Amino acid sequence: MIDVKVPATTANLGPGFDTLGMGLSFYNEVQVKETASDLEIEIKGEGRTQLPTTKDNLIYQAMKQLFTKVGYKPDGLYIKAINNIPLARGLGSSAAAIVGGLLAANELVEDKLSISELVNLATKIEGHPDNVSPALLGGIVVSNYKNNRVIYEKIAVPELKIVVCIPDYELSTSKSREVLPQQVQFDDAVFNVSHMGLLLTGFLKQDYKIIKEGLKDRLHQPYREKILPGFEKIRTQLESKALGIVLSGSGPTVIALTLEDEEEIGRKMVDFFAEEDVEAKYVVTTPTNQGAQVIMNKK
Ligand code: HSE
Repeated sequence: MIDVKVPATTANLGPGFDTLGMGLSFYNEVQVKETASDLEIEIKGEGRTQLPTTKDNLIYQAMKQLFTKVGYKPDGLYIKAINNIPLARGLGSSAAAIVGGLLAANELVEDKLSISELVNLATKIEGHPDNVSPALLGGIVVSNYKNNRVIYEKIAVPELKIVVCIPDYELSTSKSREVLPQQVQFDDAVFNVSHMGLLLTGFLKQDYKIIKEGLKDRLHQPYREKILPGFEKIRTQLESKALGIVLSGSGPTVIALTLEDEEEIGRKMVDFFAEEDVEAKYVVTTPTNQGAQVIMNKK
């Protein structure tokens, strides 16, 4: 049995639209065993009633792509997913499935693919790199995907608390992208370029004042605020309490990056959502530098 653990991820981090992502300290687990025949898939936790247990399952799909690439054909497979990452909330659940499947499959074929090949294959399957890269590598990862190739760089996470406030409804990335404009204003682009530079400088220098300044965005959040009741209020009312309040990926989850008052911030986020009739819960977590890892391989 092979057992792998994959972190949740938060993409965008304010100004880093489609580019930045960070690993979070809560995990999905994928267990895989080669069997004599057939495919059996079991799902526990998040998505157990929704996710397919057929060949359409994303973990299986990812494994199949790796097996095809390295020319391996298992007789049969047993896959068990133990999911803690809620689906379609902007916390990288599909990236975790893809990365979990790829890492388990790669372990099964004795590490035929390098990390860089795994990042590229995972991005090809997901379509964008900002969740799969930090899911594989941990830390904060800057990625760029062009001409079917991912250029990525990882930097270490600073000491931080992350309050993750998860509304009780799903929002697909494609739906959340529908509200984005086809073109952006030049000054908004300049604003984000400069804030992205500030944010990365802040992370590298572990300078929280610069991080706070850098977490601002004009490329996606102003548009998405309109379809995410509660987010604008949370951001404007709680910004002074935290280093920053940003959308996690394409939402609907909102995260606060903070050094203190995390429980109070979490409770207030839930209250502000409730004022808009959105039920939500919060968890306090931390960023992680550890990406996906094999935690057991017993023949
Ligand atoms: N960066 C994507 C978006 C979501 O904001 O639409 C995660 O990949």
